[in-house]
Amino acid sequence: MTNTFKALTLFSVLLLFLHSCKETKPDKLVEEVPKELPSLKGSFANSFYIGAAINEHQIIETDDKGIEVIDREFNTLTPENNMKWMYLQPVAGTFDFEFADKYVALGEKMDMFVVGHTLVWHSQLPDFMHSVKDSAAMAAQIKNHINTVVSRYKGKIHAWDVVNEALNEDGSLRASLFQQVLGDEYVEYAFQLAAEADPEAELIYNDYNLWKPEKRAGVVRLVKRLQAKGIKIDGVGMQAHWSLVGPTLEDIENSIIAYSELGVKVHFTELDVTALPNPWDAEGAEVSQNYEEYEGDETMDPYRGDLPDSVQMQLAKRYQELFKLFLKHEDKIDRVTFWGVNDGGSWLNGWPIKGRTNHPLLFDRDFEPKKAYSEVMALKMKDKVTYNKIPSE
Ligand code: XIL
Repeated sequence: MTNTFKALTLFSVLLLFLHSCKETKPDKLVEEVPKELPSLKGSFANSFYIGAAINEHQIIETDDKGIEVIDREFNTLTPENNMKWMYLQPVAGTFDFEFADKYVALGEKMDMFVVGHTLVWHSQLPDFMHSVKDSAAMAAQIKNHINTVVSRYKGKIHAWDVVNEALNEDGSLRASLFQQVLGDEYVEYAFQLAAEADPEAELIYNDYNLWKPEKRAGVVRLVKRLQAKGIKIDGVGMQAHWSLVGPTLEDIENSIIAYSELGVKVHFTELDVTALPNPWDAEGAEVSQNYEEYEGDETMDPYRGDLPDSVQMQLAKRYQELFKLFLKHEDKIDRVTFWGVNDGGSWLNGWPIKGRTNHPLLFDRDFEPKKAYSEVMALKMKDKVTYNKIPSE
């Protein structure tokens, strides 16, 4: 062999080798990287839906990081604000469906269990409703609102929070605008109208502090009243705006059992766990509460930077205990929805004191999963994890 030939042969072998590397290496890499990443929705798929309330930026898809997390982690959505009465019907008889339509389209695109929130609630009502003082006029308003909204999304909204926060803390009916003008019957009326407008949709009564024994008794009375009249009600929504220390697992468990015994499903509709001081012992989620005197008070807002590790651990442990309880009763629970996607977007940065930095969810301000996320996921790791598709780059 001439030296030139030898050199050529060596060169060809080298080329072949390089070529084969090029051919096989990427394939091998593709095989080694899991095609799908674990997610909340995948991991809990055999137990219950996992969801988030989404805001306007997410609905119109301008929040890229938020959209990525929503698509990857959740299989049910709730609109945080955009389907409330004041936004859907700001002026009597004039409806604005711009964001609600986009919300429903996004839910369809992402193959979500789509929740409607909320039809009849005394908060976030348009001004004109406050001047409706006559019972026939109030009944007509409720009828028009429910018929128009529920029919528009028939078959597309899978569950409705039909009536929100109708009860006082002692379980009696709240003297809301609706109750004052129409009497207690407004609850039945709303459920009946919703059932007629979309017989397939799941109909939910939603409220906060539903772990409280007296309020629990009030829900039981309310559900039984509807059932006795043959009016459809499918679920009780426990809002679940909770803290690191309360409510107790026992109180939550007793409510899950009590509601389930009525033959309805339990939905945790607005889960978040505040990490901030609550010196006034406020419980629940009365949106009208506003402690202005504490605005700017640093002692009320101690975690303006990152959450300290010790508190991060407390939050993780609290979430793990809650999810352990949910799993124990997964046969009774249809859904667990967080009230927001990440800490930065949580309403608890503004309520009940404006301008605080709260850390109540599973994703931090950069949309990265927190320790609480891993602890919740760890509950399912022993089972076969169902994987979800890799987020697009
Ligand atoms: C809250 C929203 O998160 C806020 O953005 C808004 O300013 C007030 O309402 N119970 C409910 C929710 O049923 O609709 C509330 O949402 C939180 C308490």
